[in-house]
Amino acid sequence: MNALPIIQTPTGLPEPDADALAHSARVQAMLIERIRQAGGWLPFDAWMQAALYAPGLGYYSAGSVKFQREGDFTTAPEISPLFGQALAPQVAQILQASGSTTVLEFGAGSGALAAALIPALQGLGIQAHYQILELSADLRARQQAKLGWWRGQVQWLDALPARFSGCVLANEVLDAMPAVLFQWDEHGQLRQLGVTHDPAPQAASPFAWATRPAPEPLATKVRSRVPPLPGYLSEINEQAEAWVRQMGQWLRRGAALLIDYGFPQAEYYHPQRLHGTLMCHFRHHAHDQPLILPGLQDITAHVDFTAMADAALEGGLDVLGYTSQARFLMNSGLVQLIRAPGCDPAARARELTALNLLTGEAEMGELFKVLAVGRDIDGPLLGFSRGDRRDRL
Ligand SMILES: C[S@@+](CC[C@H](N)C(=O)[O-])C[C@H]1O[C@@H](n2cnc3c(N)ncnc32)[C@H](O)[C@@H]1O
Repeated sequence: MNALPIIQTPTGLPEPDADALAHSARVQAMLIERIRQAGGWLPFDAWMQAALYAPGLGYYSAGSVKFQREGDFTTAPEISPLFGQALAPQVAQILQASGSTTVLEFGAGSGALAAALIPALQGLGIQAHYQILELSADLRARQQAKLGWWRGQVQWLDALPARFSGCVLANEVLDAMPAVLFQWDEHGQLRQLGVTHDPAPQAASPFAWATRPAPEPLATKVRSRVPPLPGYLSEINEQAEAWVRQMGQWLRRGAALLIDYGFPQAEYYHPQRLHGTLMCHFRHHAHDQPLILPGLQDITAHVDFTAMADAALEGGLDVLGYTSQARFLMNSGLVQLIRAPGCDPAARARELTALNLLTGEAEMGELFKVLAVGRDIDGPLLGFSRGDRRDRL
């Protein structure tokens, strides 16, 4: 028997307040109903989709604060406007090369990246037409409030464009797409993990893990990436791959910068990474228990950048660059944005702290990567001018 993850509440997690617990109870009831409708077993990716995005209930769809200090996690645009400002020269180069002024940001969170990038592009002489495609109605409303100043320049889309030329941005979006969980059994057969309803009154969660034989297409795909090591548990993000592949249908001319934490495939499925990369974030506590606190915590998996690059090629796009976030931001001129010693010491200290968080090896600098994919773009991209690691994908 292969051991399935144990469901328990990690020690040290803050206690949710009564309102949050009442909300989570509603999310639980919705998930239990979904499991019932699915015949008693819901594949984990469907469970994750509902826990994060069910309208009005899911983690991203309901009204809690997710980003910043009082939320659950902090992303690069939330750390400092320097992130968006450093992106600006690279975005400007892509816009120029694609003969467009349109930026399309997916999953814009609180709107922090747009709030930094729009004025930075203006400083470079570009009056950007900024589009946002956001799944969460709640986040869309927050973005509209934050970006009120640039209302005339920003447009929210309800669906993918039929054709697009310009620069596409997705910061920490791929990791938020639902992942399929799998495990190799002792006979070399692939099992898919799903969730059942377990009404045991003392349990940490009313949900339990259960596996089923994986459908043959999934088993074939996994076998081509991961050798069958008994008990090895990991994930594959078919939805994120499909999203990148589909970009090939609508991105006519331009490039997408996909920024996220993750690795090339050989590192992703390293034999020592026995339990995959699935992580949850609740009030700045990271843990590996996705079946607890439904609706109150983020659930995420690292990105397999080799799979994303392959999906882009399958969609007819070129892979234009791949490097660490630190290298990308340095190439794009982040250091030159830091104010000189002597002028406003407190602001300079804040900028140096942000520089360390964004580029430090033990912070976001090395774990986070930037992958550029696109079509009909000539010449090397600025952000990958030194330290391009495409050969490692
Ligand atoms: C971890 S948050 C990152 C937010 C923001 N980009 C940032 O860096 O602060 C993930 C975001 O992606 C959005 N999202 C997930 N899947 C999406 C999709 N297929 N299309 C558009 N947005 C998506 C979520 O609603 C959320 O806004």
